[in-house]
Amino acid sequence: MSEHEIVLQVDNLEASYGPIMAIRGVSLQVRKGQIVTVLGANGAGKTTLLKTISGVLNPRKGQVRLKGEDITGVEPNRTVALGLAHVPEGREIFPLLTVAENVAMGAYSRSDRGEISADEAFVYDTFPILKERRNQAAGTMSGGQQQMLAIGRGLMARPDIMLLDEPSLGLSPLLTQEIFATIANINKERGVTMMLVEQNAAIALSVADYGYVMELGRVVMAEDAETLANSADVQEFYLGQSQQENQRGQRRWKARKTWR
Ligand SMILES: Nc1ncnc2c1ncn2[C@@H]1O[C@H](COP(=O)(O)OP(=O)(O)OP(=O)(O)O)[C@@H](O)[C@H]1O
Ligand SMILES: [Mg+2]
Repeated sequence: MSEHEIVLQVDNLEASYGPIMAIRGVSLQVRKGQIVTVLGANGAGKTTLLKTISGVLNPRKGQVRLKGEDITGVEPNRTVALGLAHVPEGREIFPLLTVAENVAMGAYSRSDRGEISADEAFVYDTFPILKERRNQAAGTMSGGQQQMLAIGRGLMARPDIMLLDEPSLGLSPLLTQEIFATIANINKERGVTMMLVEQNAAIALSVADYGYVMELGRVVMAEDAETLANSADVQEFYLGQSQQENQRGQRRWKARKTWR
């Protein structure tokens, strides 16, 4: 496949918080049109990886390229203008602004004013609840509604690629299903490439084309989503019937040192 079809290329990325090395030489790529998921237990480095890609954090080493252009260490307001929208863990919406104001802020990096209202219409079509609540303070919405708002705001940047950090966090199973169906739909209908960080491996793998598993700041598996879903290791450690079962599994996974 030719190089221009790679939307995001990460090479040997390292990032730390003072003395704590949170990502230790991560390499990955995301091709145009794909949904790529990054799985891993608490503290594996998933959020740090997304923050370092979007420029919230500066890497110690390594390179990030967006559509072939080097964006290593470039600030988030520039990376969003270049086509990368980061929907952070915990949403980070503006709670005192209205839903409509939050949506509109997603377009701040754009100059094509004419098309912004068409995109707003798409966001409100995708998430009718946002339209209904558009004059309400965003902080008064439920967790699921705030997640929809965060995704809607990200879409307003008209990104080539969206980085989503744990969209299922704090949501009921039903709402999680709904959010993931919408993510798959945005990918299909709008052609937005997605990089999806999740602890809910089952649902992430059900929509993804490709997946990476991270452990202690490193990528320990990289496979087609289907291969990962069928892998005995992933089944044992990440696809348990309950969260407790997965947490137990992940502790066992951590205790195994075969790949280090
Ligand atoms: N602001 C911070 N200061 C110091 N250490 C941090 C900070 N943020 C994260 N870390 C550490 O970096 C490592 C990776 O954390 P990170 O938040 O990237 O993990 P994660 O995979 O997103 O976990 P989770 O699934 O819990 O969100 C962890 O050891 C964590 O304790
Ligand atoms: Mg995280």
